[in-house]
Amino acid sequence: MCSKKKKRILTGDRPTGRLHLGHYVGSLQNRVNLQYKYDTFLIIADVQALTTNFEQPEKLSEDVRQVAKDYLAVGIDPEETTIFVQSLVPEIAELTIFYSMIVTVNQLKRNPTIKSESAQYGYDDMTYGFLGYPVSQAADITFCKAHLVPVGEDQLPHIEQTRKIVRKFNQMYATVFPEPEALVSDFPRLVGLDGQSKMSKSLNNAIYLNDSRKEVKEKISQAVTDPARIRIDDPGHPEVCTVFEYHKAFNKENVKEIEENCRGGKIGCVACKKQLDGAINDFLDPFRERRVKYINDPSLVDDILISGTRKAREIAGETIAEVREAMKINYFNE
Ligand code: TRP
Repeated sequence: MCSKKKKRILTGDRPTGRLHLGHYVGSLQNRVNLQYKYDTFLIIADVQALTTNFEQPEKLSEDVRQVAKDYLAVGIDPEETTIFVQSLVPEIAELTIFYSMIVTVNQLKRNPTIKSESAQYGYDDMTYGFLGYPVSQAADITFCKAHLVPVGEDQLPHIEQTRKIVRKFNQMYATVFPEPEALVSDFPRLVGLDGQSKMSKSLNNAIYLNDSRKEVKEKISQAVTDPARIRIDDPGHPEVCTVFEYHKAFNKENVKEIEENCRGGKIGCVACKKQLDGAINDFLDPFRERRVKYINDPSLVDDILISGTRKAREIAGETIAEVREAMKINYFNE
């Protein structure tokens, strides 16, 4: 199908390290499917990563490539999806500045995600860049006139902010942008190995997409199970067991049998974990296979990012021209 007829999607991530199974279940898997139906853009939002990691910008060079490799490993196809680097599209920064004139500080201060993140990071005196990152995210979404933005719930206030900006811009200057819509993922969050919170890098409870077979095995062997089970024949309670949660996600065929055996005290946690690490490793194997080529030749990853970014810039240039025309600040090519 001609890509011009497809609706456009933009989504992405802050590059802050390796991606894990929680990312896969919550968003990557969905993106892999969506890329065939939509004209898909994936932003590696390195400038946004600086809002919290401004003290170590030197980490970005590796983290950007890490995220790209994780995308490619899970099956994001660079023929279908334009993967690009935010800071290399200066038009996004330019749009951010224009938008910042039509966003109020109070709107940003009321944003619930900004509020909870700033509490989480302990920012009592937030930087301008952190407070304003939803404005930059609006520029990420609109530079390519995206129609749909697949995101988790926590991102909804940012999409709402983007829609406000678009409405105001279109109404005040000229209709340049479609009003983007969030496509909220309805996949439940994957719990972390500690069984306490969602899987997350900062909580050190994650299985990474590039973990080795051995690492997966070790991590699963330490995962929290039903604390009421001491002996093998004690009846288990799968509903409180982290390992069971993972069986549900990665070992669907055997989940019924495992549940029965656990409740009946017929399978011990060690054997149950062994089945699980086998299932997760089988699940990760195709990603490992796809990754090999990029590890052997890292220039392939760079080439994909360079050409994706070139394409993003071309589109961004056209959009900026329209924006300047709408705002009547295209002084010398009126
Ligand atoms: N804020 C998103 C996150 O933390 C990452 C992101 C940056 C993004 N720009 C975006 C997501 C544009 C969707 C659209 O996960």
